[in-house]
Amino acid sequence: MKEISVEIDQNAPVKEPERQFFFMEKCKEELKKQETELGRKLTANVTTFGCQMNARDSEKIVGILETIGYEMVEEEDADFIIYNTCTVRENANLKVYGRLGQLKKKKQKNPYMRLALCGCMMQEDVVVEKIRKSYRFVDLIFGTHNIYKVAELLYQRMMTDRMVIDIWKDTDKIVEDLPSERKFSFKAGVNVMYGCNNFCTYCIVPYVRGRERSREPKDIIREIEKLVADGVVEIMLLGQNVNSYGKNLEHPVSFAQLLQEIEKIEGLKRIRFMTSHPKDLSDELIEVMKHSKKICKHLHLPVQAGSTRLLKEMNRRYTKEDYLALVDKVKKEIPDISLTTDIMVGFPGETEEDFLETMDVVKKVRYDAAYTFIYSKRTGTPAAVMENQVPEDVVKERFQRLLDEIQKISAELTKEDEGTIQEVLVEDEDSQDTQLITGRLSNNLLVHFKGDKSLIGQLVKVKLVECKGFYYLGELAED
Ligand code: 5AD
Ligand code: SF4
Repeated sequence: MKEISVEIDQNAPVKEPERQFFFMEKCKEELKKQETELGRKLTANVTTFGCQMNARDSEKIVGILETIGYEMVEEEDADFIIYNTCTVRENANLKVYGRLGQLKKKKQKNPYMRLALCGCMMQEDVVVEKIRKSYRFVDLIFGTHNIYKVAELLYQRMMTDRMVIDIWKDTDKIVEDLPSERKFSFKAGVNVMYGCNNFCTYCIVPYVRGRERSREPKDIIREIEKLVADGVVEIMLLGQNVNSYGKNLEHPVSFAQLLQEIEKIEGLKRIRFMTSHPKDLSDELIEVMKHSKKICKHLHLPVQAGSTRLLKEMNRRYTKEDYLALVDKVKKEIPDISLTTDIMVGFPGETEEDFLETMDVVKKVRYDAAYTFIYSKRTGTPAAVMENQVPEDVVKERFQRLLDEIQKISAELTKEDEGTIQEVLVEDEDSQDTQLITGRLSNNLLVHFKGDKSLIGQLVKVKLVECKGFYYLGELAED
């Protein structure tokens, strides 16, 4: 699919982000006309599928739509609907097709309604072809590399009355300083890098998110400083593989060095990051985490599988022994570290012996939590054409055994902290009981306790009175 570059306005600046601000203004004028015709404001809704990267991208889209003048709504019953899609597993794709059918009916009833699809799924040629042929009512399709252009593309759609498709294969461009929404007032995600160079054989991410690109440290720091000035106390640094951050910058900087700079930002209280690839986790990073007052003692360290043979087939570039040695080192240096992981079951050729190696890693590491996935065949990846795809019933049975073990261990670990007093960032009112508020511990677990919602956004000390499996009931502790 080629980039479509129709010149829709001769006066548009060439430089970014100025060009996008120009198109936001243009869209705003069009929207005003529509509002007058309709006699009401136009609404928009962004539905996000998939990971935190997508969630962050959606905030950027919302920021632009709000600038244009849309009223953002939670329900999918809006005048402009955007699906920010995921394609990491087949299920995610099926969900989108399922929902599109329903939207067609809504669109027939509302002539002002517009529908956009963006994100990872749109980076696959077969998907775009299918939508172009079978879902003609879609107005706008763009991918992962040109999210920042949503105003320009929307304006193009407003002017042309044809389906607008703009998919880039890859990019080395990072556009800074565009508006962005934030879901929470006190915590925010911050991209440090985009894309992935690892090409794990099962994974479609490098194909749909492109090669690794790091943001300049000064841009990251400036963004965080602004967030902090705006009341943010916790940030989550986002990247597919944060441990290789900065290697390709003109003046290379390591992730550990970046963290040290971020730590200096006054007013910032907590720093989190994800994801770390085990092959790139440096001693320098462990050292920085160990001495940091702000970095949460939490590492998300996807293992994927325990069998060295399978890890090689997956192109993970570490052995079971390397991984376990790394975990030992981290635990020795940072004894209160909380470890979480991603694990996949049913990779092609996985034998019972291979699976038992995965179970062995789970028992040895004792993860606080683990995200478990059934292998999903992604066309275009090397694993999709591997022989010995594992039968579904075998995979399901292994998956259940794995889940049981993980849950048993994480319940035991959670229980160990019962009775301790810990620092908690208050996030919300409790959804079940308005007398209670909910906060998050440094290790990412939730605690519900009696308190006033004026505490939202503050760090408080809470006694973890009772462990409820994967969360706690607590009470505010005196300082
Ligand atoms: N099938 C199942 N799980 C996958 N993941 C990535 N690709 C696939 C796939 N084809 C999982 C990995 C990764 C997480 C984000 O998604 O465990 O760490
Ligand atoms: Fe996918 Fe591997 Fe890159 Fe993670 S590191 S996004 S699993 S290719």
